[in-house]
Amino acid sequence: MLTLGIETSCDETAAAVLEDGVNLRSNVIASQHDIHSKYGGIVPELAGRSHIDKIHFIIREALQQAEVSLDEIDLIAVTQGPGLVGSLLVGLNTAKGLAYATQKPMIGVNHLEGHLLAIFLQEPVEFPFVGLIVSGGHTDLYRVNGFGDYQVLGRSRDDAAGESFDKVAKMLGWGYPGGPIVEARAREGDANAHAFPRAWLEKGSLDFSFSGLKTAVRTAIAKRGGSHGKGLSDADIAAGFQDAVVEVLITKALMACEQQGLKRLVLTGGVAANGYLRQRLREAAQPRNVTCHVPKPILCTDNAAMIACAGYFRFQHAPPEASELLRLDAHAN
Ligand code: KG4
Ligand code: ZN
Repeated sequence: MLTLGIETSCDETAAAVLEDGVNLRSNVIASQHDIHSKYGGIVPELAGRSHIDKIHFIIREALQQAEVSLDEIDLIAVTQGPGLVGSLLVGLNTAKGLAYATQKPMIGVNHLEGHLLAIFLQEPVEFPFVGLIVSGGHTDLYRVNGFGDYQVLGRSRDDAAGESFDKVAKMLGWGYPGGPIVEARAREGDANAHAFPRAWLEKGSLDFSFSGLKTAVRTAIAKRGGSHGKGLSDADIAAGFQDAVVEVLITKALMACEQQGLKRLVLTGGVAANGYLRQRLREAAQPRNVTCHVPKPILCTDNAAMIACAGYFRFQHAPPEASELLRLDAHAN
């Protein structure tokens, strides 16, 4: 069975072809980083327009790389939300047009379910497991009991982890997306040069909060101009900030495993591409006998292969009525 996945929820225009839900035949991603970088964040209007310009070329490229024609596709899976509505609508309406013209079934996919199931493109994971999604819009901990059976254990009460990376990079004048730049600059810094706060919240809580840390970074940058902290470099700030985020993410993810009595952990979403986080997680999980499953970086950041994968499994378990599909609408949240 061949699934065509389409993803346009944010600033990546992506299409992919999967065979039997997990075998990657193609995975094409056009990022808009060059468009948004000078603004230090995504400009929704520009994102939507760029998706319109690119979507048909990207789908054609995905089909060509997979060496299949549109007629051979058995299912079209498209991101329905959450995301920027103007961006989501481009993918959704393109998918509707293709489904209508070819009379193929189509399915709307939740972007977060895509992130959670991206690991299956790489390796099978036995249910149940703890899943931590760390992206630009979400920091969510789940107990994953099976396909479509997700229980929220905790989430960020304010900024998402990726958003905090982006904001710190913006404060330091480094462009967008901030995550990869902060990671690279942090390698030259000393994570202990300045004590950045960790928000643990109430005892045993699996929620997150990163807004206090963001303020602490702003204060540290401002104070460098005065008599305190003169020796603190940009790289030290990047390293100290990253260390604080990583420590909280790992501690809470492992706490979730302990609370749930589970020994399998899936880390996913754009921030999971961070090499320092991946390495620190492995080091912390090993003595606790927790097995970590982390997709390779290209499957952590936004892509359509994960949407095709989640769409395939959803379709196997609960195929929607054909009449529902053309009424499918975008969901911002
Ligand atoms: O999952 P994703 O591609 O899009 C959303 O669903 O939001 O995640 C994007 C986020 C951005 O905030 C970006 O800065 C962050 O992931 N990110 C990283 C790294 N690569 C991407 N954060 C830290 N380190 C990275 N290497
Ligand atoms: Zn995402």
